[in-house]
Formats: sequence, C-alpha cells, structure tokens
Amino acid sequence: MNESEIVNGSAIKFYYKNVFANVIGNEHGITPEQFKALAEKTSPLISKLNEERKSGKTPYRDLPFNAEISQKVKNLAAQLGDRCENLVVLGIGGSALGNIALQTALNPYMYNVDHKQRRGPRLFVFDNVDPPQLVSFLDWLGDSLEKTIFNVISKSGRTSETAAQFMIIRQILLDKFGPESLRERIVATTDANHGTLRKIADELNLRCLEVPDGVGGRFSVLSAVGLFSAAMCGVDIESLLAGARDMDTRVSCKDFYKNPAAVNAAINYYYYNSGKTISVMMPYSYALKDLADWYRQLWAESLGKAEDLEGNEVYVGPTPVKALGTTDQHSQVQLYREGPNDKLFTFLQVKNFDKDLKIGPAPDCAPELDFLAGKDLSMLLNSEKIATEYALLESKRPCLTVLFDKVDAYGVGQFIYLYEVTTSIAGALFNINPYDQLAVELGKEATFALMENPDYEDLARQIKTLSEVDENYLI
Ligand code: PA5
Repeated sequence: MNESEIVNGSAIKFYYKNVFANVIGNEHGITPEQFKALAEKTSPLISKLNEERKSGKTPYRDLPFNAEISQKVKNLAAQLGDRCENLVVLGIGGSALGNIALQTALNPYMYNVDHKQRRGPRLFVFDNVDPPQLVSFLDWLGDSLEKTIFNVISKSGRTSETAAQFMIIRQILLDKFGPESLRERIVATTDANHGTLRKIADELNLRCLEVPDGVGGRFSVLSAVGLFSAAMCGVDIESLLAGARDMDTRVSCKDFYKNPAAVNAAINYYYYNSGKTISVMMPYSYALKDLADWYRQLWAESLGKAEDLEGNEVYVGPTPVKALGTTDQHSQVQLYREGPNDKLFTFLQVKNFDKDLKIGPAPDCAPELDFLAGKDLSMLLNSEKIATEYALLESKRPCLTVLFDKVDAYGVGQFIYLYEVTTSIAGALFNINPYDQLAVELGKEATFALMENPDYEDLARQIKTLSEVDENYLI
C-alpha cells in the first residue's frame, strides 16, 4: 500500500484466485499456462493504452486530475446549496446512472426521508419518461418547487427523454415564477460549445457545467456530470477523485500481474471466449447495488460491438447482469448453480460496515434460531457472500471479488476508475472501439420518427407496419 492510500482511505482489492483450474478444475478454470498466455497478450495493450492516454485519446482518464472541474462544481454547490431543499436530476444513461450510483453508495439509505441523515437537499434522479412517476413527484413537490433546483444533464440535448422532461419543467417554472426564475432554478450540464442543450442554455442564460470534450456519457461520472449532484448532497468529491487518482497508478502499471484492471479484463476476455458470455456482478452491500447498474451500461455499451477495428464482423460482447446479495440468492442462485455454466461472477464485498446491528435473542419457542443470536448482522451478510461463492465453486463456476475495506468516497472512486480502465483494456483485447455506441442511435431516431419529427418522415413510413397491430396475432 503506498503512502497516499494510507492518508486518503483504504484501498480496494481485486481477488482472483477462484477462477483457477486448481480451484474449479481444468474444464472451467484457468490453468497457469493459460494465464501466462493471457498476461503475454494483455501486457503490450497496457503500454498501448498508456500511450493513447498520453496523446489525449482517452480524456476520461484525466478527469480525476482536473482540479478546475471539481472547484467549479464545489463553487456552484456552495452558491446554490443553501436555498435548495430538493435537487432533481433530469438525464438518462451516462447522464444519470453515475449520479444514482454515487448517491446510493455514499449517502444513507433514508437520506431523502430523514433530514437528520441528510447533508444537503433531497435528491431525485429522473431517468425515464414514465408519466405516473413524474406526476406523483410533481404532486408531492407542490409548494417546495420554489426551493427546488433542476440539473438537466445531456451532452447532446437531443435525447428525447431528457428534452421532454426539461420542456415539462421549464413550462411549470415559467407558469409559476416567470422567465427570470429559470436561471435561479436550472443548472444545465452539457457540451461546452455544441448541441441543443448548449443552445438552450445560452439562450436562457442558464448556469452551466460542462460534459468534457471526448468523454462519452458512461465514462463521465467523475466530471461535472456526476460530481455536481454528489457535491450538493454532501459527498466528499475530493476523496472520490483521490481514490480514482490512486487507482490510476495501479491500472497504469505495466506489470500485468500487479495491474488489477489488466487482470480483470484478461479474465473476462478469457471466459467470454470460453463460452461464459454472461458477466454477473453481485454486490453484497445495498450501498453498492447501483454501481452494478452503472457497470452494466459501461460494459454493455462499450463492449457490445458488431465490428472490430479492422471492420470485420465480430458481434462480440459479454452480457452484464446485476444481482444483489443476499436478495438474489433467493431468486437467481438455483439457475447460477444448476443452469448452463456460461457465467463469470464478480462479487463486491465490504469488510467493515460503518453501521452494524446485533441480532437479538431467539424466542424461547425457537431454539433452532439460537445460532444467530448475538451475532453482527454484517457477519450474516458476509457469511452469505462466502456461502454463495462456495456453492458456486462447488458447481465449478468461476468467481472474482472486489473487496472494499469500507464503503467510502475514496474506495468508490477507485472502483469507478478500475472498471473504466478494465473496460478500455477489455475493448483492446476484443479489438473493438469501446467508446462509440452507434447501435443506440437507431432507436433514438425511430423515437423521433414516431413522435412525428418532420426530419424523420421516411423512417416513420418504414416503422408504420410495426406500429400497426396485426389482429391475426392478437389473442
Ligand atoms: O453513454 C452514453 O453515451 C449514453 O448512455 C448517453 O449518456 C445517453 O444516451 C444520454 O445522452 P445525452 O447525454 O446526449 O442526453
């Protein structure tokens, strides 16, 4: 452990013993020779990515070092914090999942409900266009609309969901408080120079934060995209960034065996090519559960690709799945143990919970529950993690663990950066571009067409047959 890790907080660790042949057998485990071959294949890619980073091709890697962004975020949070009871994020995908993950990880479960547990405004993230959901929220909001700040996040500004939410809120604010109120109540996070939201923000003179150039939504959580709502809600964003910076040292290490992102990417790559095409992330901590959602998008949009870098059709991409321990032991583990052996499991485990409870004595009539009495609840949770891993290993299923000493901003910053760089290295192993998401566009354009955007009339005609229900198939 280096000095900065000790000063700032605890380091997360990556544990990979339980993928090896000596644990789960030759058929499903990795042999030492296979691991050596993976090291030889991956090592040059670490150097290649380090070079690409130096030449500015992966600007997400520099975000933790950008003091200007964090200062701007903190200044704006300090300016708006006092008069804000509710912060509402309007965004979707990479413009929302990181915000949700940081809030769940670093603020208490009852944050929104109990003012004693809150160090900032309540936080609501709307990453959908579900009418009853938004209506119910606006009904609840009522007069406290006056003390509500809306952070609309969209790099493009053309995402239908975010645009629609913004247009609803803008009209409500105009009706209630008039045009002057918009600057007071809306913060726009968007591209510095281009796009629809930039145009709107300039026109309405909104307060703005930036989505940095060349950083895709799913790699943007450590920019103003994720940092502003976190800072408003009392998260220590400096520790978050410090954690990411320290992880940068570890994942830049040219020695494959010391580089957790390289080993993680290589193991994932190996298993994908060995028929284990599903990657299950299973946090044993409620606080970490939405990091698994964030990871799903990062992994799916970055690695699911039709073509490799030479333009050959490859159709690759591990399918990321989220499961929550212990909840999903009781819904998924039957399949995970006895169903097809097509999954790699990654557990997230927490050594020390900052709050704990002792289990009370068993009722006299139920001495069979005595074994639980007096034990810490965290002991039960962590025992269940080990029990599930044991059961999976008995069924020859490979398992990885990311071990958090505790859940704090420093550790979460490390985790985010570890998985971002793991994704870059996995992209290099698969020989695909992990930074585009061309396949998402057609669905976005089809929505424009169905919503009668005149620029998409041809597409609307093509879709028409699909939108008309064929009664012959309706039972
Ligand atoms: O990762 C991505 O790039 C996407 O998930 C986008 O973040 C998402 O589609 C929202 O796009 P925008 O920020 O332009 O509204």
